[in-house]
Amino acid sequence: MILALLLLLALLYVPWFYLTKVNKKRDEAPGPYPYPFVGNLHQIFKHEKVVFRALHNMAVKYGPVVTLWFGGKKQVVVSGVEELKEMMHNPAFDGRSWPQKKQVIDEIYTGQTSDINPHNLGVLFASGECWQVLRRFSLRSLRDNGFGKQVAEMYILEEAQYLMDYLRQRIKENPVVTNLDQIFTMMALNIVWQMAAGERFNFDEEGMVQLLTFEQDINETFWSIIFSPLIVMPFLKHLPPMKNVVSNATRKMKKLHSFFDKTIEQHRNSFDGNNIRDVIDAFIAQEASSTKSAHFDQANLRVLLSDLFLAGSETTGKTMEWACLFMILYPEVMILSSFRRSHNAAKS
Ligand code: HEM
Repeated sequence: MILALLLLLALLYVPWFYLTKVNKKRDEAPGPYPYPFVGNLHQIFKHEKVVFRALHNMAVKYGPVVTLWFGGKKQVVVSGVEELKEMMHNPAFDGRSWPQKKQVIDEIYTGQTSDINPHNLGVLFASGECWQVLRRFSLRSLRDNGFGKQVAEMYILEEAQYLMDYLRQRIKENPVVTNLDQIFTMMALNIVWQMAAGERFNFDEEGMVQLLTFEQDINETFWSIIFSPLIVMPFLKHLPPMKNVVSNATRKMKKLHSFFDKTIEQHRNSFDGNNIRDVIDAFIAQEASSTKSAHFDQANLRVLLSDLFLAGSETTGKTMEWACLFMILYPEVMILSSFRRSHNAAKS
């Protein structure tokens, strides 16, 4: 009976997909013709499993702006330098194309179901006014707390020194260091966390182990959902095995949220409006301000901290890992960059 129902749904889905989703006029960027359920996934990953290479192959075949269907979702992939520049300078792309309404992944990430709050929170996955207000706030408060300034450089140099000491110690025990990615992520976490919450942890301290576990948990949760059928069929969250994936992810996010709540609580208890120490303090000051916007509340602060965590740590860690790899492969680049550094230091 269930099988027959599923078969019927599948049969109805095919004409619905072509009639309502696929633009028959094709007055859009070129791309391969999509199929129901899989979209173009089978074509994209036919010869190449690494995502960026697979997308590059598509761009070579169809051009620098290509329409690709990832399952039931249409995406436009832009890869040409000129096309990217044009896109970045077009105000139409300033906003978010993501749906205003919450998806399963947002419910897990924000800890609020769509019934409680149909819209998103924070910056990274938000859109509309919430995104604008909190993005402006984040840029300003990160800058006030050192981002892009000498204070950040000081944090980075300090962190680099801790890294050297840590590696020297590690090498004494074992000359082969295999977890550089983790070490770089820890450095990045410390820098982001100093600006956000005003504290850093030694690499083997309990607080750091916790931060790293949270960072890995968010990433794991994020990817396990984003590449799951939940994205196109959200009702699956009520059925096994997706029900378990969702409850597992929700449990991990709840842990992270309660860690943030504890840090926020400590900040509230020691808050002094005349001494704004970090992003959390700046947010609390906004909450208390007479011109306060409705987006300054505990739920948004919690999600904003998750955003900074997610956006700022692995990105930076991975960039450093690649930089290291390139310097190993091309030592002349390392010599050139160290020459530039000493040249700049001599100038200042
Ligand atoms: C090498 C390191 C980094 C890379 C490669 C990187 C890359 C990116 C990219 C590609 C975006 C999307 C931009 C867009 O949608 O227009 C983004 C957004 C974002 N990044 Fe980074 N990022 C890095 C470091 C950081 C750091 C250190 C932080 C925080 C302190 C951060 C916070 C954010 C936030 C909050 C957003 C969302 C902005 C928005 O929605 O308007 N990122 N990042």
